[in-house]
This record gives sequence, C-alpha cells and structure tokens, in this order.
Amino acid sequence: MSDQTFCAQYESAIHSSDFGVFYAYILERALGSVPQSGSGLDVACGPAILLSEFARRRPDMAFTGVDLSHAMLEQARRNVEKQGLANVRLLYGNMSDLPEILGDETFDWVTCTFGLHYSRDADQALAVLDGVARVLKPGACFFLADLTRFKREVTRQWFANKYDRGVGEEFFREILDSYLASFSLEEFMDLLQRSRLSGGTVEWSCLLPVLVVAHNLHPGRRTRERIDLTWLQRLKHGLLRSVLRLSAVRSGF
Ligand SMILES: C[S@@+](CC[C@H](N)C(=O)[O-])C[C@H]1O[C@@H](n2cnc3c(N)ncnc32)[C@H](O)[C@@H]1O
Repeated sequence: MSDQTFCAQYESAIHSSDFGVFYAYILERALGSVPQSGSGLDVACGPAILLSEFARRRPDMAFTGVDLSHAMLEQARRNVEKQGLANVRLLYGNMSDLPEILGDETFDWVTCTFGLHYSRDADQALAVLDGVARVLKPGACFFLADLTRFKREVTRQWFANKYDRGVGEEFFREILDSYLASFSLEEFMDLLQRSRLSGGTVEWSCLLPVLVVAHNLHPGRRTRERIDLTWLQRLKHGLLRSVLRLSAVRSGF
C-alpha cells in the first residue's frame, strides 16, 4: 500500500512527467461529465489532486473522497486545506465496502481513477463496481480511468523504464506492479457487463496504458474546462486528445 515516499513521488509524477499529460486529459474528460449540482464521490482518491480540482470548479457540490491509505489521506487533507476547499470530506475505507460506508443512492456522480486495478482479483473489482452502482442515484454518471495491461512483458518493461523510472524507485516499482495487476480492455468490459452497472450507455477510449470509461454520460453535458499545463505538455495533451477522440466508442450496455 502507498507510503509517504510513493505518495510524494506520485504527486511529482503528476506535475512533471508525461504521466501528467495523461492526468490532464483525464481531468478534462472527468470534468466533461461532472453535474452542475448535487454530490460527488471519488473512489480511491489518493492525494486528492483530481478531487480538489473537481471541488474547486464546482463549489456548490459536496464531494467525498475514500481511500485505504493513511499516508495518502494525510496528503489529501494537506492539498484540500491548501486550497481552502470547504466542500470536501475525506474518509478512510475500503473501495469494496462503499454502500456500507456511504449508503445506497447517495451520489449524483462517482469517479475512480487509477484505483480499480488495486483490487485483489476480478471478484473484488466486481464488488467495487457493484458498490458503485448501489451508491449512485439512478441514471447518474460513473467515470473511470485506469491502466490497462500490456500484452507483452517486453513492452511493459520498456514503457516503465522510458516513462516512469525517472520519477523515483518507489513509483517505478509500484507502477510496474500496477501495469501487471491492471485489467485488459476485454476483461474490464466483461466486469462492467457482469456488474450492477450494466444497462445505460458506455463511452470508452483506450490508448495503452490508459483506459477511460464514462458510464451514463449525458450527451448534453460536455463542457471544456481550462487545464493549466506547460506549452510542451499542452502540445502532447492536444495530440493525446485527438488520438483518444478518434478511438472513442459509445454503445448501449
Ligand atoms: C495510484 S493512486 C490513485 C489516486 C487518485 N485516484 C488519482 O487518480 O490520483 C491509487 C490509490 O488507490 C488507493 N487504494 C488501493 N486499494 C484501495 C482499496 N481497497 N480501497 C480504497 N483505496 C484503495 C491507494 O491507497 C492509492 O491512494
């Protein structure tokens, strides 16, 4: 589980490495699905970097973050306090116990980014998705982004050495394990189909090693929000957005 060192390296990866470009794309896509009012839940919120962005841009909404790492929640509290956000509560808990922690039909919007792959196995991941379906209000949107598994071991090693090693040893080791623990696109779609989330619409796009899925995304809700990036990150971000838009698939579920 995430300790202080990994937590610090994870934050620096978001702000400085190419991982940050993916992160910015995910923030933009998630914001494209956030309702104007109501309540939002961020599952496995980590240091609450995304959660703080959601809360800052939707001050009228109430947000909850759940995580199973005290180190991450401490960092999350610091980030939330630093931005003076009054509409965020942070809870310690296991993502497979969401209805028990939060009650049924409580949220207008649920997100889970780079967390589901921490599930012990497919059964626990299914329990998480079923829990998400229970805490969501009927027809509300679920937004997920996560890593997807590389088909070949040599690609996994090459990608991690090229893009992740420079961030730090803890981050490098953790993300190498995460690439291995992550689901393939097919496995994830099968999980979604078997879960209580099945039904409604799903829009997904995948560019190794990242999968982005919006379930019950209301077409009229697409908004474009400004994301602060360096010019080089903006260039890469624009490219990434075009590639992922071209590969986006929307279907009934
Ligand atoms: C890679 S971080 C992602 C954090 C955040 N969602 C983001 O996108 O920046 C993964 C997070 O999942 C949390 N996590 C792992 N297993 C969990 C579980 N069973 N229940 C809740 N949180 C969990 C870890 O503590 C860590 O904070």
